[in-house]
Amino acid sequence: MNFEIDIEPVGRRIPCSQGDTLLSAAQRAGIVLNATCGGEGVCGRCLVRVMAGQVSPLTFTEEAELGKRVEEGWRLACQTEVCGNVRIHIPPESLATAQRIQTEGHSLPVEINPAVRVVTVNLPPPSLSDPLSDTERIKIALGMPDLVFSLPVLRELANALRINAFAVSVFLNGCSVVGLRPANTAALGLAIDLGTTKLAGYLVDLSTGETLACAGAMNPQIAFGEDVMARISHAISKSDGSEQLRSVIVEALQKLANGLCEQTKRSLLDIADVVIVGNTVMHHLFLGLPVKQLGLSPYIPTVSSALDVPAFEIGFDFAPGAHVLSLPNIAGFIGADHVAMLLGSGMVKSKGVVLGLDIGTNTEFSLIANGRHFSCSTASGPAFEGAHIKYGMRAAPGAIEKVLIYDGKLMLQTIDNQPPIGLCGSGILDLIAQMRKAGYLNSHGALDGSKGTPFIRQGKNGLEFVLVPSLEKEGREIIFDRSDVNEIQLAKSAMRTGVQILLQKAGIDEKDIDSVVIAGAFGSYLDVQSGIDIGMFPKLERERFIQVGNAAGTGARMALLSLGVREQAREMSRRITYIELTSEPSFSSMFARNLLIE
Ligand code: FES
Repeated sequence: MNFEIDIEPVGRRIPCSQGDTLLSAAQRAGIVLNATCGGEGVCGRCLVRVMAGQVSPLTFTEEAELGKRVEEGWRLACQTEVCGNVRIHIPPESLATAQRIQTEGHSLPVEINPAVRVVTVNLPPPSLSDPLSDTERIKIALGMPDLVFSLPVLRELANALRINAFAVSVFLNGCSVVGLRPANTAALGLAIDLGTTKLAGYLVDLSTGETLACAGAMNPQIAFGEDVMARISHAISKSDGSEQLRSVIVEALQKLANGLCEQTKRSLLDIADVVIVGNTVMHHLFLGLPVKQLGLSPYIPTVSSALDVPAFEIGFDFAPGAHVLSLPNIAGFIGADHVAMLLGSGMVKSKGVVLGLDIGTNTEFSLIANGRHFSCSTASGPAFEGAHIKYGMRAAPGAIEKVLIYDGKLMLQTIDNQPPIGLCGSGILDLIAQMRKAGYLNSHGALDGSKGTPFIRQGKNGLEFVLVPSLEKEGREIIFDRSDVNEIQLAKSAMRTGVQILLQKAGIDEKDIDSVVIAGAFGSYLDVQSGIDIGMFPKLERERFIQVGNAAGTGARMALLSLGVREQAREMSRRITYIELTSEPSFSSMFARNLLIE
């Protein structure tokens, strides 16, 4: 039997069949819900409210997860089957859209020397006395007898020449024709930062280097699992899992490109070159490469060198001969996005001892000192993306992004000044630092209510800090307890330990770090001083830290514009010494020490 689901606040009515879960029906309709556990019913992130209609009875998992909220119609979308026409409300914290997406980064000067160049020609039209084929005509006009035409280009060639009266701009990549456009059309490039959580796209004029437009979107693979391990698990546990993950990301990137072209009133056929950067798992999923081995020690990628693939083979609809270049990966958990971040932040050219942290769902570290370059990575990010924190969420309207405890008062700032609905990473970091400073938290992570503050109360699981009491209009109660503090201790310790191990390898003392470059979305918004205060970052003066925004996006744009930068990326990836943190003998003891909150 077929039914309809009316989805608010999205304002969409979608078809579904008896037995569909709310999650699967929404996914099919392109409405992306958070689903950290991939629909197993254990993460509680796909929370929706059934406003009207028939759905399946509550499952045992839902009763345990939702408690009293079931009385108000709250359900887990992955556990709730549709049994009739239904109306549901999706709260912002369950919806993987309208998030704040970091597309901006510092820009660095780059010599413009792109892979694609443009030559405009006026060809003599063919006649009975001049019956040369279209390809020969172009070869003669360009003086390039060895010019190569791929099959997709040949399929478009006759039409492109004739609708433009044989006056065309030929896009050339070396000796290969990428496409033919109306005379005097500038070729465009597309740079993509393919993040585990977020996507960023930049449309660039390849002749001037100008970024014409940029846009961000959520990675729709979130619906199949929030972090890379959950995606690997989906890819290997479902027969079509890999293809599902590949096709949704290609579709989302094509949509991102469509939007950029609409915004700039340009044609998709003007996109002649693409550079994409992402972590190694995202890279493999995007290309349809196997990922099982990336989830198992020793985490070996299928390929680590740069790859140049025809865009049509990926499934993109750009210039017929356009190529997609993915920059080199370094190791299983350090991908091309880190290479791009190193290029885009200018770290590779910095003098002295430079530490780089690219904080996302996964955090990558690089230490460049005395001509040597060490890198490592750790899964520190999920807690700061709101995962594993009871009232945690990503940076979206209503997320508490700043916390200040001053003179016994609690001050909160939310994104877009919306009613508070949860805590995002920067707010979580502030909260820990502020509770510690106010004496409400000891160095082991235990809350201390002895100072008689109204913000700390006895909860079901011990003491808890109340950020928002339950009566707050349109919001729900927001509390933070010891288990949340413990999640942050783990993340914070992983970060500091990563840095210490790199320093140990390089034989350098922490105080000798000249500058710390912090990149990534969370890294852009966090309060660096809070990170220093709790011991997540090295104890250095605030002035030595630089926040560079989405440096991976900047690096991808630089590679799009310069063959020299591409070569620099290849050369750098060969020089980096990768350190597997967990195989370091001092890792466990350092990690245990760093759990303490300073
Ligand atoms: S509870 Fe995990 S996706 Fe629903």
